[in-house]
Amino acid sequence: MNGVIETQDLSKHYGPVIAVDGLTLTLSKGEVFGLLGPNGSGKTTTILMLLGLTEPTSGTVRVLGYDPARNPLQVKRRAGYLPDSVGFYDDLTARENLRYTARLNGLTRAEADARIIDVLARVGLTSVANRQAGAFSRGMRQRLGLAEVLLKQRSSWA
Ligand SMILES: Nc1ncnc2c1ncn2[C@@H]1O[C@H](COP(=O)(O)OP(=O)(O)O)[C@@H](O)[C@H]1O
Ligand SMILES: [Mg+2]
Repeated sequence: MNGVIETQDLSKHYGPVIAVDGLTLTLSKGEVFGLLGPNGSGKTTTILMLLGLTEPTSGTVRVLGYDPARNPLQVKRRAGYLPDSVGFYDDLTARENLRYTARLNGLTRAEADARIIDVLARVGLTSVANRQAGAFSRGMRQRLGLAEVLLKQRSSWA
């Protein structure tokens, strides 16, 4: 097990529909990988299986050595996932939204506040940190979503 993400002959069937058909993939540390394909070709289903949000019909998945179907929490603690549209509390500020996520990830308030300053700077949202997320443009929401994913780095891995 050398890859950060490894799949072996991974398949997912929804009744008669074969959403993913025998995918074998190894992604290494530091690798950037684009999963491209037309609508309905199984990209989302693949991601959901990597995250442990849906179970494979057959084949194996390992994320950082863990099987997401059997150890979903180990994977969810470590993996970041930025979907197309991120759900935020619109009446909370950017900083307050990140504080909430940080708490769910088990960071102390002091850890959280330091990490939040860092990630807001990294995504270029420092100047609007105290503005409500509901007033953010789509691009700003995506940046805030990225900040949320980056919060996990160096957070308390069990
Ligand atoms: N929950 C589901 N129930 C039934 N069929 C599904 C479900 N999710 C996806 N599918 C089917 O699986 C195939 C792959 O879908 P999906 O993974 O969403 O593709 P992509 O993300 O590449 O557009 C499609 O035929 C889709 O209709
Ligand atoms: Mg999709």
